[in-house]
Amino acid sequence: MANILEIEGLSFRYPDSTRKAVVDFHLAVPEGEIVVLAGPSGCGKSTLLRAVNGLIPHMYSGEYSGDVRVGGASVKSSTMTDLAQRVGFLFQNPENQIFMFTVERDIAFGLENLGVPRPEIRSRVDEAMGLLGIGELALRAPYELSDGQKQRVALAGVLAMRPRLVILDEPTSLLDPKTAAELVGIVAKLRLDLGMTFLVVEHRLDLLVKLADRLVVMNEGKKVLEGTPREVLFGGEAEAYGVSVPAVTKVQKLLASDGLVREDELLSAQELAAAVRSAEA
Ligand SMILES: Nc1ncnc2c1ncn2[C@@H]1O[C@H](COP(=O)(O)OP(=O)(O)OP(=O)(O)O)[C@@H](O)[C@H]1O
Ligand SMILES: [Mg+2]
Repeated sequence: MANILEIEGLSFRYPDSTRKAVVDFHLAVPEGEIVVLAGPSGCGKSTLLRAVNGLIPHMYSGEYSGDVRVGGASVKSSTMTDLAQRVGFLFQNPENQIFMFTVERDIAFGLENLGVPRPEIRSRVDEAMGLLGIGELALRAPYELSDGQKQRVALAGVLAMRPRLVILDEPTSLLDPKTAAELVGIVAKLRLDLGMTFLVVEHRLDLLVKLADRLVVMNEGKKVLEGTPREVLFGGEAEAYGVSVPAVTKVQKLLASDGLVREDELLSAQELAAAVRSAEA
């Protein structure tokens, strides 16, 4: 499948900084993949996402080299308006993304900015609310919603633009475990139903490892590990880079080294428990 995202030798240094935030970074993401980006605080994850959605170099100046292409078009030579339709971006804090007095006006905001005709806006807003199951919130005021609901409203605003690529920067950090799991369920559904591609910065790997096609670990601006979540998390190096390996994966690895459970794919807690029970039987 064609690559929706290609990062080739990207380096970026913020103007007031002595060292580069991203260093000679390469990544190719085929359409429809879910890629998780992890690594210690300050390693450059958000900077990399900014280089994908165009905030770098269009809004942040600095020393930029290499190339980032979305759908074959170079980010640095695309306009922000054009990029806004191709790359959806969910901020870590949905408050930064919610402006309007009602949920439906908020979701329509990006489309109104683009001058999309009214009937088209109506149908896309309804579609986005339907995908996220928030139709009944249409006329509510965003500020009175829960964090999980706000997150869905912000994501609906992103989806209404129908981007092929969606980037999420720590989307679950403000959410309780149940709402975080629901958000991950929505990502799975959007990939399945619409073939959307996701690049997700996330610390809570337990929620995403079963879903992700690829796990990329960054350190000091560089890509240091890349593979399937199983390859990266079983490899033993991830923890050295501050990646919190899910407890269930640690247990699976221990049991697998004794030949008690399979090691060819990552197991969920339920699957691991079932495997242990059948090994004991
Ligand atoms: N706007 C900015 N101006 C100057 N330096 C910045 C700016 N934003 C980030 N940096 C620096 O760039 C480096 C990478 O930061 P970045 O925010 O990309 O890391 P991160 O991996 O997203 O960290 P976190 O996990 O804490 O969100 C850090 O050294 C940071 O201090
Ligand atoms: Mg960050």
